[in-house]
Formats: sequence, C-alpha cells, structure tokens
Amino acid sequence: MCGIVGYIGDRDCADVLVDALSKLEYRGYDSAGIAVFDKGTIKVEKCKGRLINLVNKMELEGKPNGHCGIGHTRWATHGEPSDINSHPHGNKRVSIVHNGIIENYKQIKDFLIGEGYSFVSETDTETVAKLLDYYYVDDPIDTIIKVISEIKGSYALGIMFRDYPDRIFAVRKESPLIVGVGENENFLASDVPAIIKYTRDYYLLEADEIAVVKKDGVSIYNTHKEPVKKEINTADWDVDAAEKGGYEHFMLKEIYEQPSAVRDTISHRITDGMPDFSNDGIDMEQLKKYRQIFIVGCGTAMHAGMVGQYVIEKLARIPVIVDIASEFRYRDPLITDKDLLIVISQSGETADTLAVLRLAKEVNAATMAIVNVVGSSIAREADMVVYTHAGPEISVASTKAYMVQISVMYLLAFELAYLNGAISEEMCRKLTEELKSMPDIIKETLELKDTCSYVASKLMNAESLLYIGRGLDYALSMEGSLKLKEISYIHSESYAAGELKHGTISLITDGMPVIAVATQKKLIEKTISNIKEVKARGARVVLICADGVEVGEDVADYIIRLPQVDEQLMPMVAAAPLQLIAYYTSVLKGNDVDKPRNLAKSVTVE
Ligand code: AGP
Ligand code: GLU
Repeated sequence: MCGIVGYIGDRDCADVLVDALSKLEYRGYDSAGIAVFDKGTIKVEKCKGRLINLVNKMELEGKPNGHCGIGHTRWATHGEPSDINSHPHGNKRVSIVHNGIIENYKQIKDFLIGEGYSFVSETDTETVAKLLDYYYVDDPIDTIIKVISEIKGSYALGIMFRDYPDRIFAVRKESPLIVGVGENENFLASDVPAIIKYTRDYYLLEADEIAVVKKDGVSIYNTHKEPVKKEINTADWDVDAAEKGGYEHFMLKEIYEQPSAVRDTISHRITDGMPDFSNDGIDMEQLKKYRQIFIVGCGTAMHAGMVGQYVIEKLARIPVIVDIASEFRYRDPLITDKDLLIVISQSGETADTLAVLRLAKEVNAATMAIVNVVGSSIAREADMVVYTHAGPEISVASTKAYMVQISVMYLLAFELAYLNGAISEEMCRKLTEELKSMPDIIKETLELKDTCSYVASKLMNAESLLYIGRGLDYALSMEGSLKLKEISYIHSESYAAGELKHGTISLITDGMPVIAVATQKKLIEKTISNIKEVKARGARVVLICADGVEVGEDVADYIIRLPQVDEQLMPMVAAAPLQLIAYYTSVLKGNDVDKPRNLAKSVTVE
C-alpha cells in the first residue's frame, strides 16, 4: 500500500525520487525516505509524516547528491510510524525499501541476532536488509535469489549494494512493482503515475523476477539466474490524466470524469445495440451455464457487486451471492467447479480479493475479474478479465471506478438475461440503449452540485447519520454512507429501510440527519412509510428520488430530484449526487479529501 520508487540517470536523483513519491501519495503512507549514492556511499534521509517533512528535513540537512537511488512512502504494518521505522533500512553495504509483510521475519530476526546482528527498528523489513547483508559476498543476484528463497509473505523490494553504485535491484511477490524504461534513464515504481511524467514504457515484474536497473538498460533474471525476455508495456494515458487538471481535488475531477469513463468502458462492448463481450475473449454461452455466481470484492467494489447481484438475479434469474472478500475467504465457501466467481477491484492488487480469486481457482471454479489497473495481479491471474476504462483513479475515495464497475455489471446482466431467455431481444436492446445514454444522464446529475453542496452544509456538523433505502437503493445507500464516512469522518451507517424498526431506529434523536434513497417505484411507498417513522422521532430527512414521482413536499425536509430512467439503472443516476454530498461535506470540514486519515488506496495487506 505504500509506494516504492527508484531512479538512475542524469537528473538529480533526490528530486526525481521525491517527485515520483508525491505521485504515489494517494496510496496512503505515514513516513517517507530515500537512499542515494553520494560520493561512493549510500546516503539515507527519512522521517515520519508527510513527504513535505522529508523535503524540509533535507533542506535543513542538505539533500543527498547523486544520480542513483531508491525512495519509499511507508504504511506501517510492523512498528509505529516513526523516524526509525521509516524506510530505507539496512547498513553501509546494503539499503532497501520494502512494500508488504514478511511473515517469517521473527525467525529470521532471531537467527540473525544469533549471528551477531543487531536491529534498530521494529520493522519486518529490517530483517530482509540484514539477511541480504548476511548472504552477500560479491554477487547481488545470487544474494537476492538466496534471500527470496527464505522469506515468506509479500514483498516489493528496491535494493542498493554499496559495491554497485551504477545500478539498483528489484524483486517482487504479491506486492506490485514496475520498471520504467526511459532514454538513458530508468525507474522503479509501485505504479505508473509515479513515472508517467518521464516515460510511458515499463516492464511488469512477475513474481520473483529480479531486475537489474542501470542507466543504459534493464536486465531481468529468473530465480535460476537465467535472463528473462519481457515485453514492454506502454501506458495508454498521459501525464494529464494523473494531474488535477484545474480541479481542486482528484476526487472532484474523478467524479466529473464519470461520463467519459462509462462511455469508454461500455462502448466497445456493444455491437449492433446488443451487449458483446467477445473482444474480452469471453464465451457468454458458457457463462450462463454456471450453477451460481459469486461476486466478491472489498469496500466500494463490493458495493458495485451488490448492484450486480440485484440486476443479475432480477433480470437473468441466476442465483448470485455477494460477499466481502475478507469474510468469504475464511468461511469455507460452498464454491465448486460448477460456479462462476466474479471479483471486482479497481487496483487489482487488493490482498483479500486476490486471495479469494486463488481460492476459487483451487476448486476449479471459473473466474472473472472486473479490474481497472491493466496488468495488475488480479487481472493476470483470473481466467477472464473485463477491464474497466476509468483511467487512473488517484483519490482514495473511489468514485469513477464504482461507476464503471456497475456499468459492466449491467451489461453482463443484460446479456445473461437475454441468453437465458429471461428477457426478449427487444428488451435487451432497450436496456442496452438506455445504458448507452447514461454518460449524458450522469452529466446532468453533476449539475446538482450546488444542491449537494447545500445538503453538505446541513450535514457537516452532525455527529452521526443514517442512509436508508430498499433493494437497489439499499446497495446505493451502502456506497453513499461509506463515501461520506471515509472522507468526512462523520459516523454514518447504511440500513435497509425496512429493517430500521428492528433495532436501529432507537438511534434516531432530534435533528439527526437521515438520507433516504428512494428511486424504485415499486418500493417508494414503503420507503416513505419508513421516512415517516424516522421523522416522527425527530430526524431531518433528505429524500433522493426520481423526477416526476409524486411525494408530498412535507415528506422530507429536503428533496433532491434525479432524472428518471429505467429504474434498474437508477444507481448510475443517484451515485454522483451521493459522491458530491460526501465530497462537499469533507471540503467544508477542511479535511484532506484525497488522502483521508488512516486509509490507503491500494490495500495489499490482509
Ligand atoms: C473506496 O472509496 C475505498 N477507498 C475502498 O473501499 C476500496 O474500494 C477497496 O479498498 C477496494 O479496492 P479495490 O477496488 O482496489 O480492490
Ligand atoms: N511491513 C513494512 C513495514 O511495516 C512495510 C510496510 C509498507 O508496505 O509500507 O515497515
């Protein structure tokens, strides 16, 4: 979840490392550091807190001066965030940065202490640094091969050996790491945004491939020390996509990118007005034969799965179980080779989701990944991949990734329903046509921004609030509530509206805000009854419903009306206003919108 960068070339290394790390800030971190070859020695600078602290420290103490080095932003797993625990770790001979968790670090540490080593930090990482030192004689690659055969867990490592000031080394397993290829300069990075300003070309390292990165070239070896030939990948987006482009925050920019992200995701999956996944190499006839579908993800991705569950079950009449990855993996799930698992992930690196994918593969279930990051671990390991085309999502709070994930859910549901004979071709065409119009409708909903900002001003001082809804509106409420709590730090819960009276309604006190989502005609009367129940107990209610739906103006304290489309598709219409309410609440509270406290963008640990 932290960030790793590395550089070798003619530029000032410390400047490049800090700049590249700043592009990875969105991943979440609590300390930062760099190591640079400076006049034949490895000079390390590191400290707790934001990158700016490191910059200030270097201004005071003098920054390392050189052209080859590694950098790190740490998201602490072993030991508190502190100067000492910050990376790089090592000694005069070896310096490393690490992302991940070394599961057997305790045994290694005990062994090394027995061999006379001492440790200054509480990190698992320091054991890897010292183990490298222990095995190192004169060949870094042999040393790395030996060390990775002994460590267990997840790692992306950037490594420097004092004796080799003209190169950096890298290896990874479970945690992401790429090698950027420039002209007379090369890079290491956890993710493309770190290097996109310098180059769009990069190698994806496979598990336990060892990269030797020099100024004029990159060599990659397997664990038998044989050279590996690899294809260069080229990012199909540029630096603008990774910058704020005039918006105050990435989150706002990404909310506004939703119409084009949806268009890019669905347009090449519609042929002659019908859904078509043939470009993804998916045999839909085969897909409809599975006994049941499991949809699994974490956080927002799981909420997209909830929308998928409703529409696939309702339209295609195929049983769907949706679950949180961290729960699913440990409950001996009843998944077999007759089932299909769909995992949803923006980053494609989420540890729990990846574990579920592997578990399903072990029992020979068919696996499909709906993923945004090209070449990510989940994308590489799934049998079938449907890439969403949201472009880079930088803000920790996921917005456009959710929107494109649900757009794929719809297309899948339409096609499965049609192939199953559950809906006619005419109906399938009609729904697909309506989905195609979504980019314009989403654009319309963005015009509600002032309304959302007004609602936010009424919520910002609340201590706690509730989101309620039924059916698809409940799925959507889950997402609205998560979005609000993660960036506004206001406690919020989402509840199935009909379930309130079984306990949660006791939380309602005078003036407590309740956001009621009621976009489904069949259920609106029921939800209105639930609204009346909370209003009678003092709640201040914001109702989100479709245009033209008749509700008495006194039903709620404030009503947000949305463009009316086929009700199945209403989550795509209501999502942006919910995101905007969360966004403005966070802005009004003066929070760090794009990098909320305690959170990381890509959760590569359990
Ligand atoms: C969303 O706003 C969250 N930051 C989080 O719930 C996220 O969706 C979750 O961690 C899953 O990430 P993924 O899509 O990259 O797997
Ligand atoms: N486990 C290591 C630590 O706690 C690395 C954490 C990270 O991925 O940032 O230092």
